[in-house]
Parts: sequence; structure tokens; C-alpha cells
Amino acid sequence: MEKATQYKLPLARRMSRLGTETAFEVLNKARALERQGKSIIHLEIGEPDFETPANVVEAGVDALHNGWTHYGPSAGLPELRQALADYVSRTRGVKVSSEEVVVVPGGKPIIFFTILSLIDEGDEVIYPNPGFPIYESMIHYVGGRAVPIQLREERDFSLDVNELASLINDRTKLIILNSPQNPTGGVLARHDIEQITRVIGHRNIMVLSDEIYSRLLFDGGRHFSIMSVPGMQERTIVLDGFSKTYAMTGWRMGYGVMRPDLAAHMTRLMTNSNSCTASFTQVAGIEAIRGDQSSVDHMRDEFQRRRDVFVAGLNKIKGCSCRTPRGAFYVFPNIKETGWKSKPLADALLEQAGVAALSGTSFGEFGEGYLRFSVANSLENLEKALDRFDQWTKKNL
Ligand SMILES: Cc1ncc(COP(=O)(O)O)c(C=O)c1O
Repeated sequence: MEKATQYKLPLARRMSRLGTETAFEVLNKARALERQGKSIIHLEIGEPDFETPANVVEAGVDALHNGWTHYGPSAGLPELRQALADYVSRTRGVKVSSEEVVVVPGGKPIIFFTILSLIDEGDEVIYPNPGFPIYESMIHYVGGRAVPIQLREERDFSLDVNELASLINDRTKLIILNSPQNPTGGVLARHDIEQITRVIGHRNIMVLSDEIYSRLLFDGGRHFSIMSVPGMQERTIVLDGFSKTYAMTGWRMGYGVMRPDLAAHMTRLMTNSNSCTASFTQVAGIEAIRGDQSSVDHMRDEFQRRRDVFVAGLNKIKGCSCRTPRGAFYVFPNIKETGWKSKPLADALLEQAGVAALSGTSFGEFGEGYLRFSVANSLENLEKALDRFDQWTKKNL
């Protein structure tokens, strides 16, 4: 219940421009239904259902016992920054030094800090739509102009480079890419990325490349970063992190890789906002990045198996058709043939069928006609969800 007050909240104007991430709202609504005794299958939230690997947990517990409970440097522990610089150099085929790495509490702060440090009022930012909602929210928050580039199903949710070219102008300051992509599972192919760099040419446009799902590519696919294209390193900020790769969403740790002068500004933003990422978390991060990687492969293989079952099941449901995503752990079926709009359908599935999914419109206007399901749940629950969805359509369509 809201507390009665005689004072009107003197909220800053900019707060009206800040958006949100619907996944957390749907999760709360689903939990409220569960408290009323309803059975809900959770396919709304984007986090691995696996435990953090045991070697990483142990490293974190040891770090707590060994006194890693104090402030550390704002940009991250030097050993972790070096481990990440080595990892990014190896996986992206570029030479990265530790001064180019900033460790932050999760992947999200890199979105926040990139936009805060680069975008002035009126600057244009091109971003994927449907796409992770925080991009648009942050662009609006700082007074930038959000310019969506539509990701189309018929292109397997990869972007149309000619369309991108038509959106670039003298006010374009930043382009946001995300591959593998949330919510569509789309992947930008190497030749698409090379074409994007040709479209950017020699313009002084920065690219925020959100690569948080870079280790979650299916069918033997290999990740390719725009940072790897000759001439792009100093204009690229790579966002990556531990949340999805090592099932560490609650540890809050991610990082950005960028030119050292920008890294210094982001470090200043860290000093002003968080001081530093938790020290024991970072020690666990060193183990995650340098230790045994078999759990990463295991999780990816398991997500692929679930994707196959879930996509096949969706394609048998009336009004539903679904492409096979090539990365991340989401599926994004087209539901236009049901005759329902996305949001009412997601609401009905939650309330009447006990399946929590997200409306495609939670990811922007071009998400209309789609739902997002996370396959970060057991095969048994995924099959149950398919059955509930199927029964619901038989009753209601
Ligand atoms: C595309 C994308 N970028 C960034 C993030 C943020 O990740 P983190 O939880 O590490 O802040 C997410 C999380 O869902 C995401 O899907």
C-alpha cells in the first residue's frame, strides 16, 4: 500500500523518459498468480536455469574467506582485466590490453555508460528493433534520438544493410548491434558484419556491439565480432559478461572492451556510481574465464536440444510458426495467424494457460505479432508448456 503523503514527489523530468524491462514485471505477475495457487511455467525471464559452475562458486567462497571483501579499483581487479584482455584478444582476433577493459556489475552498465559518455541531446543512435529494451530506454533518457532498425523474420532477424545505410546521417553517433540477439535468437553472419563496416566507412560513428550471448551459438556456429574487422577496433565497444555464459546473473558482473581514452571515462562513471564491482565476485570471475569451460559447452548443447523440441512443438500449434534461432536461448514465434495481438495473447497464456511468456512488443514496436519464450527451463516443463499452449488454442481459436 502506498504511504499517504502531503508532498508531491518532485520527480526530475528525465525520469518520464526512462523505460523498463517487462520481463521483471511479468515475473512478478506470474509469482502473484502462483501465490494464489496457480501452476505457472516460467518462460519469461532470460537467465540460465543451471547453477553457477562449482569451481566458480568455490573460488567466490574462498575469496570471501580470504578477505576479498573490500573496495577494489573502479575499473576492476588488474588480474581479471588482464584475463579478460587475453580472452578477448584470443576470441576476437585483436590485440587488447588490460587498460582497454572495464569491469562493471553486469552487462547492463556498459549500455548505460556507453550512452551516457557518448550521446548528447539530439544525437542519433541506431538500434535493433525488436531488441533488448534497455537500449531504447537509455537513448531516450539522455535525450538522444532513437532510430530503430527493423529486424525482419524473412531475413532470419538479421538486419538489412541497405536499410541501415539509409538510416545513417550526419547526426548518427552510435550504432548498436546485438548478436546472437535477444529476443529473436538471430545471428549476424560475418559477411553481414563486414558489409556493415563498409556502410559505416570512415565516418566517426561508434558501434556498441552487445556480445553477451557470444558463447551461445548453435549448430557449430562461430561468433564473429565487428571489433575483428580491420579499422573498427577504435570505434567499437564490445559488451560481454558472465551472466549468460556462466549462469552468473545474480553475481552481477560484466565488462566492456574499448579504446583506453573511453575506458578512462567509463571508469569515472564507475567511480561516481558503484565505486567498483564486488571484489570477491571478480576473483570468482578469474576462475570462470581461466578455469574449466566444459560447463559452458554443456549448457549450450542443452539449450540447443531444448530449442529443437520447443520450435518443433510450436510449429504444430494452430496459428503459430517459428523459425529456428541460431543463438541465445530464446525462441520468437510468429503468432499473427492466431488473430491475436501479442500483448493480449501473452496475458491470456499467463492467466488462462499458466505459461509465462513475453509479448514481442516488450522489445519494441516491430515485435508486434510475436511472442518471446525463453528455453531456459527443463525439457519436461517446455513440453508441458507446449501442451498447455496447444490446449488453449484448441479452446480459444
Ligand atoms: C542483449 C542483452 N544485453 C545485456 C543484458 C544484460 O545482462 P546482465 O544481466 O549481465 O546485466 C541482457 C540480459 O538479458 C541481454 O539480453
